[in-house]
Amino acid sequence: MSKRVHPQDVMKALSGVRDAAGRGIVALGCVKGVEVGEGRVSVALELPLPMSVTTPAGQQLLRAVHEAVEALDAGTVEIHVARPSSEPAGASGPASAPGAGHGSAPAQAAAGTAPRLAPGVRTTIAVASGKGGVGKSTVAANLAVAFASAGRSAGLMDTDVYGPSVPILVGAQREPAVVDGKIEPPIEHGVKIISMGYFLPKDEAVIWRGPMLHKTVQQFLGDVRWGSLDYLVIDLPPGTGDIQLSLCQTAALTGAVIVSTPQDLALTVASKAIAMFQKLNVPILGIVENMSYHVCSECGHREDIFGHGGARAAAERLGFPFLGEIPLDLRIRTQSDRGQPVALDGSTPQGKAFRDVALALETELAQTQVAEEIVIE
Ligand SMILES: Nc1ncnc2c1ncn2[C@@H]1O[C@H](COP(=O)(O)OP(=O)(O)OP(=O)(O)O)[C@@H](O)[C@H]1O
Ligand SMILES: [Mg+2]
Repeated sequence: MSKRVHPQDVMKALSGVRDAAGRGIVALGCVKGVEVGEGRVSVALELPLPMSVTTPAGQQLLRAVHEAVEALDAGTVEIHVARPSSEPAGASGPASAPGAGHGSAPAQAAAGTAPRLAPGVRTTIAVASGKGGVGKSTVAANLAVAFASAGRSAGLMDTDVYGPSVPILVGAQREPAVVDGKIEPPIEHGVKIISMGYFLPKDEAVIWRGPMLHKTVQQFLGDVRWGSLDYLVIDLPPGTGDIQLSLCQTAALTGAVIVSTPQDLALTVASKAIAMFQKLNVPILGIVENMSYHVCSECGHREDIFGHGGARAAAERLGFPFLGEIPLDLRIRTQSDRGQPVALDGSTPQGKAFRDVALALETELAQTQVAEEIVIE
């Protein structure tokens, strides 16, 4: 008797399958669809170019996919291989139309006619909230580190020019360099980083006007050598004003992650951020509840300081995926201050919490990128 599984379980199983270069096929957007029927699981795949079903590498990958799904014990496994799109992921040129190719499909929709300023970046994720201090930067930095720890190529872009905190969060051991007129981003904990914090005089107030901000983001995308990246995580400044709007339009986002604390107030404000992204046609990839609960570092007693589960309930009510809960935890704060994001160590509960959110996000992304029509080879 086969087990009943959910498509999400299948995606989870497939997220462990890697191509010959060691990149996860889910992260690469190769999984185009999963269907679960009575005693049957069907997976639609697009092999990463230049792989094809006739090559040994292609065959090996198909076997690995088959084995991963078979291990779920959900019945017969069917694999449909779609013809790869003609343009390799991250190829230069304007953004592809929504749904075309296996890159960041909704990117163009997000920004209307915004060109892809960083064409090698496959997935651009904004981390936002309606209000300040809820942990956007902490979540953004830990997500980028979690992706890198899982073997993805990741970048982190800090667009908060008034209070850039990313250099501190990642330790900033290195400085950006300019090579042939382009900015070489420093790499910290395996993540390519850019932030205005590297370029601003310390402890000096800066006055920015809208057009300057717009230009900065354009430069951060177009003049930084991101190379080819699976994920570029963008830390947005607090609020939902013109600055955020302009940033989102310039960045041609794949989607947004909303960070909220559990209180009703924060959630009401988070819904402002949601409304902003919806106005821009940017898909909401999910909601993360930060400072969700507190576990005493001395006695292990758990307290729901701000209430608990409010963000999950709101996500359910609004129909958005809930990506996970991050505890309010002293270690998260102290390690952030020391430039050692907790996600570096997946064996701690704090690190695991962030890594689980990254995995949930990756699964969600793969599902939003599912092609509607599958061409069987
Ligand atoms: N889960 C957590 N547990 C403990 N401390 C946290 C947690 N999340 C964030 N913090 C701490 O809360 C403070 C604010 O976090 P962070 O800077 O990430 O928020 P933010 O939303 O980016 O703020 P801003 O709106 O100013 O950009 C930081 O000192 C950070 O270390
Ligand atoms: Mg911040």
